[in-house]
Amino acid sequence: MISIGAYAPLKLLTNADLEQMVNTSDEWITQRTGIKTRHIAASDEAASDLAVKAAQVALERADRRVSDIDMIIVASLSGDYLFMPSTACMVAKKLGARNIPAFDVLAACSGFVYALSTARAYIESGAAATILVIGTEAVSRFIDYTDRTTCVLFGDGAGAAVLTATDDQRLSVLDVKISSDGEFSDFLCIPCGGSKNPLQRIASAEYSQFLHMKGNETFKLAVRTLSQDVVEILERNHLSAADITHFIPHQANLRIIKAVGLTLKLRDDQIVLTIERFGNTSAASIPMAINAAYEDGRLKTGDLMLLDAFGGGLTWGSALAYFAGK
Ligand code: UT7
Repeated sequence: MISIGAYAPLKLLTNADLEQMVNTSDEWITQRTGIKTRHIAASDEAASDLAVKAAQVALERADRRVSDIDMIIVASLSGDYLFMPSTACMVAKKLGARNIPAFDVLAACSGFVYALSTARAYIESGAAATILVIGTEAVSRFIDYTDRTTCVLFGDGAGAAVLTATDDQRLSVLDVKISSDGEFSDFLCIPCGGSKNPLQRIASAEYSQFLHMKGNETFKLAVRTLSQDVVEILERNHLSAADITHFIPHQANLRIIKAVGLTLKLRDDQIVLTIERFGNTSAASIPMAINAAYEDGRLKTGDLMLLDAFGGGLTWGSALAYFAGK
């Protein structure tokens, strides 16, 4: 990963704002989730617009031009259009990248890790040398702002990384491990809009177009799965938690992150947290957190990052990646 960039829309939604909208409190949200603010996309900003802004930063920091990119992979659960055209094609159009493969990866909040695994496979096979990997979400469009169980959690934003081929293992994406279990597909779901419940049924609550989540069940499974996953990826690479410079997890809930941190016995300074500022930005949360560590001056060339994600599907995944940027 030779660079990282991110973009957060200007509009802020605070806990105080939410107190005026639903029966909630700053105290409940802060204690149960760790979130204080989230950014919300403007009405004329779609997922691809956020993605392009993040990508431009990543390209500039990588000292690469659009013409250097061989492939664009976008992870999002809130893409510009329902199924087509893909958000990756919209990003390619807006960047002026023509005649290269551009496609979306759908793995909800695990999307960036899934996209990273795809990019790594293309690079390792020799089919591509420079790939733009993006996680972007305008997920607020799919949130019911009368449902306090979800509306306090999610925010919008995008993060982008440039990946290139390298012979130096200590500058590579060392390993990616992705998994899923469709048995829990009902834990996180946007019921309406697809071929199962087409848009005509949108009026009924049962087939809502909004995101639904079984929060508590998801929480328990997230803690168990994420903790297991990071232990396994470290073991199979003969690494210990002490070898990790930065643990950069999906930012869904501070309590989940702390529980995984405890399992690995990580020091606080190893854990990158952005949840307080951005809330849960789904597929964008990990690249936005990598970017925050970079902009804080914490993330340096050769640092080893452990990424850990969990989301609808259910899907989960972890990755060990050296940062090769300047
Ligand atoms: O990104 C994809 C993966 N997502 C996750 O991993 C998220 C996992 N889940 C969570 O982060 C947590 O489960 C939540 C933050 C969503 C909820 O926290 P919780 O501690 O699991 O709360 P709960 O769902 O068990 O609800 C406890 C109480 C309930 O009231 P009663 O039934 O005890 O009277 C809820 O109705 O909290 C109530 N509640 C709220 N109260 C004030 C739920 N949402 C709110 C709210 N404000 N916003």
